[in-house]
Amino acid sequence: MYLSPRFRAFAAGAALLAASALAQAQQALPNVVILATGGTIAGAGASAVNSATYAAAKVGVDKLIAGLPELSKIANVRGEQVFQVASESLTNDNLLTLAKRVSALSKQADVDGIVITHGTDTLEETAYFLTLTVRTNKPIVVVGSMRPGTALSADGALNLYDAVSVAGSKDAAGKGVLVTMNDNIDSGRDVSKNVNIKTSAFSSQWGPLGMVVEGKNYWFRAPVKRHTMNSEFDIDNISTLPVVEIAMGYEGVSSIAIDAFAKSGVKAIVHGGTGNGSVANRIVPNLQKARTDGAIIIRSSRVADGFVIRNAEQPDDKYDWVVAHDLRPQKARILAMVALTKTSDTKELQRIFWEY
Ligand code: DGL
Repeated sequence: MYLSPRFRAFAAGAALLAASALAQAQQALPNVVILATGGTIAGAGASAVNSATYAAAKVGVDKLIAGLPELSKIANVRGEQVFQVASESLTNDNLLTLAKRVSALSKQADVDGIVITHGTDTLEETAYFLTLTVRTNKPIVVVGSMRPGTALSADGALNLYDAVSVAGSKDAAGKGVLVTMNDNIDSGRDVSKNVNIKTSAFSSQWGPLGMVVEGKNYWFRAPVKRHTMNSEFDIDNISTLPVVEIAMGYEGVSSIAIDAFAKSGVKAIVHGGTGNGSVANRIVPNLQKARTDGAIIIRSSRVADGFVIRNAEQPDDKYDWVVAHDLRPQKARILAMVALTKTSDTKELQRIFWEY
């Protein structure tokens, strides 16, 4: 088909204008990096009705991004596959590797926000570790899903869209590591998985920080505990994590676990006690001996909500024990590992448990 020189010049000019408008539009969008680690959000089931029976950690980050073209309208997104594992199988070394990558990216001028896709089983532990150790004000958002993308009413796509939207939001800066699940924006410190099969699995006893709806953030409170830029810890100065184990309290509890932990030379034992961190009288001597032999003893509670009162159920001053405040055993373990990279002084440790 003949095109006049004048039309060809017009078409070329229009194409140039369109290209520059697109480039300008993309420049206006935030740059968000998605670090993928596995989990259900990367899971796949045999059929659409398999909302609970499926294989986690199957779908790669590029496929996750390609499967959500709406992301390109809210951010310039690129992905990195850090791991491809179910989160219950993550290790301390995985945690260090991930946090160091987040820290390095947060220092790049061409990165405005970071999303970590993660299995929901230990998402709360990773989110807390990152908020304690990554020194940045940029938004870091950890996200997962309770159903694989292959299932009816899968929740991963909207959770991921919300995570990228929040990670690219200027008003999400300086709030510590965040978790976007089921329309909520939760604090990485406060949130836990409280239901093991519902899309509304995640919540905090202190409530969400806000909500994200159709790409807009609605904030209702801000964290008061120290985090990120206000933390005294820095992942760039942490190369290994001390061994901290958890011993649960329950009717009929024996000292087998505590004695084994103490004998193995753990740095600290978190006791997930009943009620307000109660300890069965028959195992108090075992914890006292573990303390005498050098292990730090941290009294937490198996009860989901509330917080352990120092010197209430046990004479913590007399025994030289630390209380975990409102932190559940799994979160208390994260803080204990980080704190013990800096100090073993129990008064300093207790301050850290009050402040973080
Ligand atoms: N295996 C669990 C995990 O990777 C699946 C649960 C999920 O990711 O929602 O945490």
